[in-house]
Amino acid sequence: MTKVAIIGAGPCGLSALRSFEHAEKKGEKIPEIVCFDKQEDWGGLWNYSWRTGSDQYGDPVPNSMYRYLWSNGPKECLEFADYSFDEHFGKPIPSFPPREVLYDYILGRVKKGNLKDKVKFNSSVTNVSYNGKSFEISYLDKKNDKISKDIFDYVIVSTGHFSVPFIPEYPGMKSFPGRIMHSHDFRDAEEFRGKNVVVLGSSYSAEDVALQCHKYGAKSVTIGYRHNPMGFKWPDGMKEVFHLDKLEGNKAIFKDGHVQETDAVILCTGYLHHFPFLNEDLKLKTGNRLYPPKLYKGVVWQNNHKLMYLGMQDQFHTFNMFDCQAWFARDVIMGKIKIPNDSDIDKDINKWVSMEEKLENPDQMIDFQTEYTKELHDLSDYPKIDFELIRKTFKEWEHHKVEDIMTYRNKSFASPVTGTIGPKHHTNWEVAMDDSLKTFLDQPKK
Ligand SMILES: Cc1cc2nc3c(=O)[nH]c(=O)nc-3n(C[C@H](O)[C@H](O)[C@H](O)COP(=O)(O)OP(=O)(O)OC[C@H]3O[C@@H](n4cnc5c(N)ncnc54)[C@H](O)[C@@H]3O)c2cc1C
Ligand SMILES: NC(=O)c1ccc[n+]([C@@H]2O[C@H](COP(=O)([O-])OP(=O)(O)OC[C@H]3O[C@@H](n4cnc5c(N)ncnc54)[C@H](OP(=O)(O)O)[C@@H]3O)[C@@H](O)[C@H]2O)c1
Repeated sequence: MTKVAIIGAGPCGLSALRSFEHAEKKGEKIPEIVCFDKQEDWGGLWNYSWRTGSDQYGDPVPNSMYRYLWSNGPKECLEFADYSFDEHFGKPIPSFPPREVLYDYILGRVKKGNLKDKVKFNSSVTNVSYNGKSFEISYLDKKNDKISKDIFDYVIVSTGHFSVPFIPEYPGMKSFPGRIMHSHDFRDAEEFRGKNVVVLGSSYSAEDVALQCHKYGAKSVTIGYRHNPMGFKWPDGMKEVFHLDKLEGNKAIFKDGHVQETDAVILCTGYLHHFPFLNEDLKLKTGNRLYPPKLYKGVVWQNNHKLMYLGMQDQFHTFNMFDCQAWFARDVIMGKIKIPNDSDIDKDINKWVSMEEKLENPDQMIDFQTEYTKELHDLSDYPKIDFELIRKTFKEWEHHKVEDIMTYRNKSFASPVTGTIGPKHHTNWEVAMDDSLKTFLDQPKK
């Protein structure tokens, strides 16, 4: 019997598990599956951890999520085609839920069956090699400190790429008297109440960590961008300036001459695609981009078609794109999708990469990833979902952010699965301090 290893039980690994379950329910004979996750439960980044650094076994903590994190895109854009928000919550919910609500939703779909039996928790994959016929996987049972080996026909890598921080160094850091941290280790904005904070970066972490610090009472927040500013209309107490030059004592000195006294520097400088467990010939090497090279249809490793990667792209689309990838990977493994010859694979990858290199603005990037996801969707039996509505929703969301970065999370959108429009949340995001599932779902008493 064909044997498949899934490495990681975050959203991508769960999409892979679900894709096989979907085929099995239709009466198809599925391969034997073993999923490994180095954490003690599933859900990947969405399974919040207070820990930073290393865990109780000395293993680096993969989690980068923090308290009070709300979805930064409309939930309608990531909805599963086979499991709607309406089905999970039994009622319509607002469009921008906090982390715990999305975590509950992700797990709702996989908890229905017996998929958890297929996951080995606290099991860190330490080595994957290919001998020309099959893969040998070594994994560490962290609890019992025991290494085991197993043989597989196919490997699906779904270990995420927002877990290993990229940490640059600036002059003056060694003698800076305050706190320097990467967003990977950011857990609670309350820590910065009453403080002057410098945030470096100009992408989603910089935007959200800066807004969080402001929302939870930082005295000032100064964002230092390197190439392009985010350019939002920041509220009083926040500003965006050009590139940190150096730290001098507790002063941050920027290249545009701006000087800011600061208590803390938070590096929102992104993450590394890091796969220390893969042999060199199997290892994807890329930055955070919309079409990493060497992946046919963004999934199948060009040099070895028995190795698949899920979710390695920079992400507008998330959960339903991961599903489309997983369904595609499943059908390659089950022989329902034939991989073309080397030259056609090369042409296909080059076509997408060269389109990606010409993208100039968020609308074009949204179009690009929507086209990619639609193409994958057409190749499998992943259930119907309205990607044109998702495309439109993403673009409206982008424009709402430009209009007002403080209020875009108060807007509502229609579901691409059920058509339901998300109701307005009982509390505007700027003043919603409690992010618990209970508070989010319950209407406050009048
Ligand atoms: C701070 C932050 C906020 C985000 N917010 C949003 C949001 O609001 N909306 C959205 O759609 N997306 C968001 N994302 C994007 C996020 O990447 C996806 O939502 C999703 O978590 C990706 O799923 P994944 O399975 O690829 O990776 P992950 O969620 O990272 O899961 C990977 C899993 O692999 C396991 N693993 C890693 N290495 C090994 C190993 N060697 N052996 C065994 N197991 C291993 C890990 O333990 C983990 O459980 C956010 C990302 C970050 C960093
Ligand atoms: N739900 C939420 O609200 C939320 C919150 C946080 C993160 N996220 C998610 O987390 C994921 C990761 O986002 P991310 O922002 O961490 O990573 P990212 O999108 O890869 O962005 C990395 C940023 O680091 C900057 N950078 C790199 N090196 C730098 C340096 N030496 N000095 C200054 N800036 C530097 C880059 O700037 P250049 O452009 O100049 O290279 C870029 O702005 C995304 O999927 C995002 O959606 C979501």
